[in-house]
Formats: sequence, C-alpha cells, structure tokens
Amino acid sequence: MSRARTAARADRRPLSTSLPQQTLHVVSGKGGTGKTTISVALACALATAGRRVLVCEVEGRHGITDLFGRPPLDRAEEPRLSRTPSGGAVHGLAIDAEDALLEYLESFYHLGFAAKALDRFGAMDFATSIAPGLRDVLLTGKVYEAVRRQAKGRDDAYDAVILDAPPTGRIAQFLNIHEAVSGLAKVGPIRSQADSINAMLRAPTTVVHLVTLLEDMPVTETEEAIDQLRATQITVGTVIANMVRSMPLSDGVLQTFADGNGKLAVPGFDEADNKILAAEFGIEATRTVDHRRRRAVLDGFGKPVAEVAFDPGGIDENAVFAIADQLQDQMQLERRR
Ligand SMILES: Nc1ncnc2c1ncn2[C@@H]1O[C@H](COP(=O)(O)OP(=O)(O)OP(=O)(O)O)[C@@H](O)[C@H]1O
Ligand SMILES: [Mg+2]
Repeated sequence: MSRARTAARADRRPLSTSLPQQTLHVVSGKGGTGKTTISVALACALATAGRRVLVCEVEGRHGITDLFGRPPLDRAEEPRLSRTPSGGAVHGLAIDAEDALLEYLESFYHLGFAAKALDRFGAMDFATSIAPGLRDVLLTGKVYEAVRRQAKGRDDAYDAVILDAPPTGRIAQFLNIHEAVSGLAKVGPIRSQADSINAMLRAPTTVVHLVTLLEDMPVTETEEAIDQLRATQITVGTVIANMVRSMPLSDGVLQTFADGNGKLAVPGFDEADNKILAAEFGIEATRTVDHRRRRAVLDGFGKPVAEVAFDPGGIDENAVFAIADQLQDQMQLERRR
C-alpha cells in the first residue's frame, strides 16, 4: 500500500449528499476488460457516499476478494470487505448456482431435505444439463433476493447491489432468462417469481454498465451488447472505458508521427538515433490515434461514457478507491431524494 494512496484515501471527503438513483448495478464487458475491478470500484464509490453495498460474483472466480487481499468468499456468507469514514461498507457475496437451487426448491416446494439428498446424486448437473438456462435463472434469482431485502425492510438490506456479471457476449441472454421462464410457466410461484425478476430488471432502479478497453473487439462487443439490451428493454447506464492512458499531445502531432513524418532533434543524439526514436514514437502515436478514434466511436453509442485511467502500479484496495474517485466524478450521481 503506497503512502500517497493511503493519504489520498484519508483525505477523501464523504459525498453523503450524492446518491445514484439505481439500486441494482449490473457490470458487464468483454472478458478481461475490468468488470470485476470496476464492479468493486463502483461499490467503493457508493460506500464512500455512505452507502451499504453488496457486490455479487457469479462466475466463481473469486476476483472480488483478491482485490482486498482476502481469501475467496465462503458460499452464502456476505462478509464486509471494506468500510469508509462516512459509514458506508462494501460486502461481498459469491453466488453459487447449486446453493441457489437448494434454496429455490426449499422456498417453493419445501424440499430442503429431499433437495439435499438429490444434490448428492448430482441433481444440479442433471438439472442444468437438461435446462442450460437454469443456472442463470438461479443466479439472477439470488440477486433479486438481495435487492428485494430493502423493500422488505430487512436488517441485512443493502442500499445498492452490484453484480459482477457475465461478459457482454452473454449478458442480454443472462438478464433476459426470466422472460423465457415466464413464457414456459403460465401460472404458479415460478411464473410470479419470473415476472417479479423481469420487472426488477426493467425498473428505472436497475442499470447495466458496460466496461470496455479502447480496442476494436471490446468496442464492437459493447455496441452489440447495447443493441441486444435495447431489445430486452433493460437500461444501459454508463459505458466505462477502462485502462485509458493519458497523452497530452494533439491529434495533429500524433498523426504526423503516426504517418512517419515526425522529426526529433534530441540534443546529444545523432541524426540516426533521432530517426530511430521518432520511428519508435510513431508506433505509440499510432496506438494513441487509434484509441482516440475508438473513444469517439463510444460517444456515438448515445450513452454516457466514463474514463478510468490505466494504473501502472497494479490494482489493490487503494487503487480501487482511486478508480472509485474517478467514477464518482464522472458517473451521474443523483442527489438524495
Ligand atoms: N484501470 C486499470 N489499470 C490497470 N490495471 C487494471 C485496471 N483495471 C483492471 N486492471 C487489471 O486488468 C486485469 C483484468 O481486470 P479484471 O479482472 O477486473 O477484468 P474482468 O473483466 O473481470 O476479467 P474476467 O473476464 O477474467 O472476469 C486485472 O489484472 C486487473 O488488475
Ligand atoms: Mg472478473
């Protein structure tokens, strides 16, 4: 933990008057773009504003606790991972489809004991292989349960729930799974649960943020996810360009070097060395020009865009709080109602 970062955290003023309107933030993005990092940073941003926040992971990768230098989350526990001077807290939950299946059977059919027996014979494997979408039904069902605690006034309720969600290629299908369930189950508790989850996901209190890098594939996948989510009527919130490297030079200067026309005259270097340096910088200039072009493409999606800087020091708890500051500044935070 660097001293500068620790000091920066201590100086952070709680922003208790600013609140995001949403209570469920779903964070998706192409693999490796920073979904987990941004999910946790968003949680820290909300916690800095005094909120009690739960971050849920569903892919079993333990990425959330890694960021806090802790061992993987125990199933079904929601430990506090961090707290802020304003009284906010970040809790973590690893949602496990198998546990969710047992709970589901227990709550709808009072099959707790029988379900546990079934489990020993691989009920989960059996169930998910005949109904591949079942896993997603169970995972989103658990998120729904966490969000709904607030409406029920429960002591373990959270002000906001963040879902470190599956990647962009799967996100629309993942979130829309209960639409399919509603289509299959015409009546009964499964139907009403599916309808409630569908309503929650389409309410103004739910928003999907898409994390991207300024690279071709993630930007293309972001555009595709926006289109697919539009069709489901689930709201896209902010497109978050992650790992953005700063470069103060103008487009014109960069383009000159990218085109191979840039000239350098570094004192003490001979002409040949200056040419080599200019050519090397030309590669960097080309990369930056491409990033700026893709950044403009993101603006064309018609959604708010936030930028998160590349942190060369690696990502630990303090780096996550530094990213939280950047998000707090750029994401639209509503005033307390
Ligand atoms: N702003 C940043 N600056 C520097 N490194 C970053 C930044 N954001 C994320 N990283 C690093 O990039 C890597 C991928 O981040 P992360 O694990 O959050 O991505 P992910 O989308 O959740 O990946 P996966 O698809 O594997 O779940 C990690 O090593 C993380 O520390
Ligand atoms: Mg991840």
